[in-house]
Amino acid sequence: MRTREAVLPDAERIHQLISNYSGDGTLLPRSFAEICENVRDFIVLEDAGSVVGCGALHLYGLHLAEIRSITVEPGHQGSGGGKRLVRALLLQAKKHAVTCICLFTRKPEFFAQLGFGIAQREDLPDKIYKDCCVCPRFHCCDEVAMVRGDLPKFAILPEPPEWLVKLQA
Ligand SMILES: CC(C)(COP(=O)(O)OP(=O)(O)OC[C@H]1O[C@@H](n2cnc3c(N)ncnc32)[C@H](O)[C@@H]1OP(=O)(O)O)[C@@H](O)C(=O)NCCC(=O)NCCS
Repeated sequence: MRTREAVLPDAERIHQLISNYSGDGTLLPRSFAEICENVRDFIVLEDAGSVVGCGALHLYGLHLAEIRSITVEPGHQGSGGGKRLVRALLLQAKKHAVTCICLFTRKPEFFAQLGFGIAQREDLPDKIYKDCCVCPRFHCCDEVAMVRGDLPKFAILPEPPEWLVKLQA
């Protein structure tokens, strides 16, 4: 098995791999359009020319990146592919000189083997404003926040919408 950067023709397979684990909430669902738009975030895992796994690195800024959508198809699990994907994504983060990599998971033991430690969701406001605040499980989140590297000391948050600024004025 080997990893490589994803290209647009991989988008359909990546969508399928993620969809297999999003029905039960293991992975966040990602639309085909969203995968095409962000395909450069993805690394794929190949075995004999077939894509059998994928994972993505979302960049927030130099202070933070997030590993997401990581999965290996059931027939290829337990052979080191998941670890290969995480290591490839960590290399991408290093290439971009990112100082902290975070993720949200229900499988903390897997990521602990790769140097991730448990963190507080509140330490990662970029993630809260991007995803958590629109998540139906915001108040009953059962995912564990994990980080590798230095916890961010700041966040890059989106500009508030004009209507909110007016309301607060
Ligand atoms: C999690 C997942 C990506 C791991 O991929 P994998 O190819 O099976 O992982 P590896 O073979 O590289 O396993 C590496 C190690 O992690 C352990 N591991 C794998 N899955 C694990 C799990 N669910 N919980 C705890 N440990 C796990 C393995 O035992 C192995 O340990 P070892 O090296 O001491 O033998 C894969 O099980 C998967 O796709 N699961 C469904 C989707 C998912 O849960 N994604 C993560 C959501 S954040």
